[in-house]
Amino acid sequence: MRNNIVAGNWKMNNDSSETEVLLTQLKSFKKPEGVRIMVAPAFTQLAQSTALLKDDAVAVVAQNINAAASGAYTGEVSASMLKGVGVHTVILGHSERRSLFHETDAGLASKVKSTLDAGMEVIFCFGEELKERKSNTHFDVVAQQIRVALFELPVSAWKQIILAYEPVWAIGTGETASPSQAQEMHSYIRSLIASKYDQATADSVSILYGGSVKPNNAQEIFAGEDVDGGLIGGASLKAEDFMAIVNAF
Ligand code: PGA
Repeated sequence: MRNNIVAGNWKMNNDSSETEVLLTQLKSFKKPEGVRIMVAPAFTQLAQSTALLKDDAVAVVAQNINAAASGAYTGEVSASMLKGVGVHTVILGHSERRSLFHETDAGLASKVKSTLDAGMEVIFCFGEELKERKSNTHFDVVAQQIRVALFELPVSAWKQIILAYEPVWAIGTGETASPSQAQEMHSYIRSLIASKYDQATADSVSILYGGSVKPNNAQEIFAGEDVDGGLIGGASLKAEDFMAIVNAF
């Protein structure tokens, strides 16, 4: 179902004591009705985080999985391992995973499938680089990323999918897409899903925007008709900033 969602991607930040401080602060805030709130700590802090947030509305999300169920994959973590520590949602396809760890849309398609097969939910990230926006190929780039990774899925799987449009040039740079650039892309993505599947499926998918969302710009970005919330990096590391964004709808 289409929800307003704010998810904090902590990336490789916050050790155990920092996690305890930040989550204790987040717990002390009154949460608004009608917004799903998520945080994605590092693997090592997931069990600690689900325990700390046991009675809270904030859900704990992972930043990656391995597509295999188990076996000789040194250093990797499977979907069922995450479920075992109370995690039910996984971020896949973040641009840092694509650029630094060479993840491809084809590889992501199998990660998506494994996550969904485990009964979990995916936050699927995609977005164009600056040179692609400058050459006006951003719609084609995004369409290709979504087609390869997600369009083999049956329509029923879309209940477990959240999309996150994150233009690479806006991540961690302080530069955001304008509210109209975000709305334009989100509306295009919805039309793409409607033409491949159907309008009801397109209308029920939550599409988040990510890239330098801050307390002072969240409201105008979230005002877009097809913008259902945000995937937040830097500003999710401060409880006050993150909660200001959660309250920006
Ligand atoms: P940022 O990161 O908010 O720091 O730009 C967003 C993201 O990487 O998801």
